[in-house]
Amino acid sequence: MQSVIRVELPQQSYNIALAAGSLERLGAECAGVHLGKKVMVVSNPAIFRHYGEQAISALNSAGFEVFSCTLLAGEQYKTLGSVQKIYNAALENRLERSSTLVALGGGVVGDITGFAAATWLRGINFVQVPTSLLAMVDAAIGGKTGVNHPQGKNLIGAFYQPRLVLIDPDVLKTLPAREFRAGMAEVIKYGIIWDAELFAQLEQVLRLDQMRYLNEGLLQEILNRSCQAKADVVSKDEKEAGLRAILNYGHTIGHAVESLTGYRSVNHGEAVAIGMVAAGKIAVEMQLWEKEAAQRQDALIGKAGLSIKLPSGIDIEAIVDALQNDKKVQEGKVRFVLPTQIGSVTIIDTVQAELIRQVLGQMQ
Ligand code: GLY
Repeated sequence: MQSVIRVELPQQSYNIALAAGSLERLGAECAGVHLGKKVMVVSNPAIFRHYGEQAISALNSAGFEVFSCTLLAGEQYKTLGSVQKIYNAALENRLERSSTLVALGGGVVGDITGFAAATWLRGINFVQVPTSLLAMVDAAIGGKTGVNHPQGKNLIGAFYQPRLVLIDPDVLKTLPAREFRAGMAEVIKYGIIWDAELFAQLEQVLRLDQMRYLNEGLLQEILNRSCQAKADVVSKDEKEAGLRAILNYGHTIGHAVESLTGYRSVNHGEAVAIGMVAAGKIAVEMQLWEKEAAQRQDALIGKAGLSIKLPSGIDIEAIVDALQNDKKVQEGKVRFVLPTQIGSVTIIDTVQAELIRQVLGQMQ
């Protein structure tokens, strides 16, 4: 059954269409939002091998003229060089103002493609077809697009909303197990920051890692709730003037861990999981959160197959230093999203460095 979640925005609202097998409807869905005739599918080689043909044939059947462009896979290619590759293909295929870039891939493909769409001819249409769990529940929704600068992650970018997000949970069956676990960190995040019922539902699942094979109905329900949480937050605060910052729960320490491990040995979701454990402990120490609730969070993270410990060899002082370079620093103060109960968080900038050291020490 198809669910449609609306991202309501002042200027360009759009739908998230979620259904098993929906990749076959990509052409019909794109036609439904009145896109121009030319479409270029942007992907990476592995995803394109699995799903490129299906996407192109669905678009052809709906009358679109379809081109494709593949980018090298991996965070290390989230660069202006990859954007240039898309521009070159757009020029070669004579894409016009009414044309569309379809991002078929995970968060990296989506972020790069969105930025290329935002800037080519001062903005062409953009459709997100996320193929990783993390991209489905987070990166593909909300219009954050961009690439990395050699000095930091996502320093170059634009808010640019897609015309449509199409989610086909069937494609998760070919996602590597580690990537699926990493995406589960963001799902758990929504349980903590927004949706206590989602959290309780996840606690009931015996094998979170097997859900995509054994319980597709439940997987769709969990995707639906996660996307709804993201849509609700983005609809209330598109440009992160306030509320949207709660989506950064677990990301303050998470980004530091990710950058200190070179964006390789610990991936984004794994780092966010570690960051959520740390934030939970900080909240307990500051008497904002019940210890028992923090233990439930950590148990769920562990059940998802994610580590609740710091990676071995990481230097606590280096983490404390790295926090100062984060985009979330405002006027020299590090902002933390901290839980107050399951389903609710607050944002504060008064966490003492000594408390961060103490909590990280407990996670070694
Ligand atoms: N991933 C955080 C946000 O979209 O704001």
